[in-house]
Formats: sequence, C-alpha cells, structure tokens
Amino acid sequence: MSLSESNAKKRTVTLHMVSSLDGFIAKKDNSVSWMDTTTVYEAGVSISNEEVATFLKTIDCYVLGSRTYEHALELGWPYGDTPAVVVTGRQWPTARKSVEFYSGDLKTLVDGKLAPRYRNIWLVGGAMLCQRFLELGLVDEIKLTIAPVLLGEGLRLFGGLIEKRWNLKNVVAYKNGLVELSYSTPVA
Ligand SMILES: NC(=O)c1ccc[n+]([C@@H]2O[C@H](COP(=O)([O-])OP(=O)(O)OC[C@H]3O[C@@H](n4cnc5c(N)ncnc54)[C@H](OP(=O)(O)O)[C@@H]3O)[C@@H](O)[C@H]2O)c1
Repeated sequence: MSLSESNAKKRTVTLHMVSSLDGFIAKKDNSVSWMDTTTVYEAGVSISNEEVATFLKTIDCYVLGSRTYEHALELGWPYGDTPAVVVTGRQWPTARKSVEFYSGDLKTLVDGKLAPRYRNIWLVGGAMLCQRFLELGLVDEIKLTIAPVLLGEGLRLFGGLIEKRWNLKNVVAYKNGLVELSYSTPVA
C-alpha cells in the first residue's frame, strides 16, 4: 500500500449540517434566524464557549460548496484560520489566506489532496456538495443538528439519494432545544 493510500484510510470525512425538523437546511430567502432557539429543554446539556473552541481545534480542514462559501462570507466567516477548501468551477478572488479553491474530481480531492495532509475533514455544505459526496461514498460520519422548527419549504439536505443504512453513534440533546445526531458508515 502506498503512503497516500494508507493516509487515505486514516482520514475521516464528517458531514455536518443544521437541519429543520422537516429536513431543510436553508430557507428560500437564505435567512438563518430559524436556527436560533428560544425554548429551554431542562434535561439538556449546555456547553461553554471554551468547550466549543477546544472542539473546533480538533477539525483539521473544512470543505464547502461555492454557494455556502458566498453565504459564509456574507454572514461573517465562521471557520477562523482553519484551512478551508471551496469546491467550484469558477474563478474567485482570494478573500482569505486559509481558503483555497478546488475544481475537479471529488475523490481525488479527498484521498489525493486532503487525506495526506489532514485527518479530521469536515464537509459543511451545502446540499449539492453533500449529496455528491454521499453518492460517491466519501462521507464517513454524519453529524446532524436538528433545530426544533418546521420550515415547510426550502433547500432539502437529502434529495434523490439511494437507500443506505448508517449506525447511530451518539445523541446529544442541548438545553437550547437543539439535538445532535451522530452516525457512522456501517463496516462493510
Ligand atoms: N443549515 C446548514 O447547516 C447549512 C450549511 C451549509 C450551507 N447551508 C446553506 O445551503 C445553501 C447552499 O447550498 P447549495 O446546495 O445551494 O450549494 P453548495 O453545495 O454550497 O454549492 C454548490 C456549488 O458548489 C460547487 N460544486 C458542487 N458540487 C461540485 C462538484 N462535484 N464539482 C465542482 N463544483 C461543485 C458548484 O460551484 P460553481 O457554481 O461555483 O461551479 C455549485 O454551484 C446556502 O443557503 C447555505 O446557507 C446551510
């Protein structure tokens, strides 16, 4: 086995998204206030900003589609200085040092370009790019944060995919009403 093949086996690609109860990740007007919660779930856990920051340090690299990139720039870049790869077929001006643009085969991106450098790779949207990753079998873990809201319409996270089973690994209910579901791919 070559070095890049053995590194490719060690990498984990985690798809992370916030979804409404009815499976939408964005509203038509692109507003994000639906993710804010106002209720309190007393039995839930809460985590401090320090704990969040410590956790985020474990992420080696983010991967996102160009529409998510545009929206992230508008909202205020949430990925700090962690390396981020934007998948796009277009040319973009360099907005941040930590961002690079990629166009081409996604398997080559993950196993040829990212896996030799990074272990903990987070795929953070949007729907189009995540569906392509899932179709290609490039996702090892799914972390879905469910917001307690029905949106009725919007952008669906999972559309047109073929049936595939996942193993539930963890469930965390937070005091603010968000629930995080973690799944991994079944061992073949
Ligand atoms: N709720 C959440 O957690 C969450 C997370 C992330 C995003 N979002 C929302 O989701 C929306 C964006 O999602 P989206 O599905 O519309 O778009 P997206 O997946 O973010 O980006 C789509 C773009 O990525 C590029 N792309 C995707 N697959 C490609 C491939 N195989 N090869 C080359 N380029 C590829 C193309 O860029 P080019 O057109 O430049 O070639 C395509 O137009 C936004 O509203 C965002 O706010 C929500």
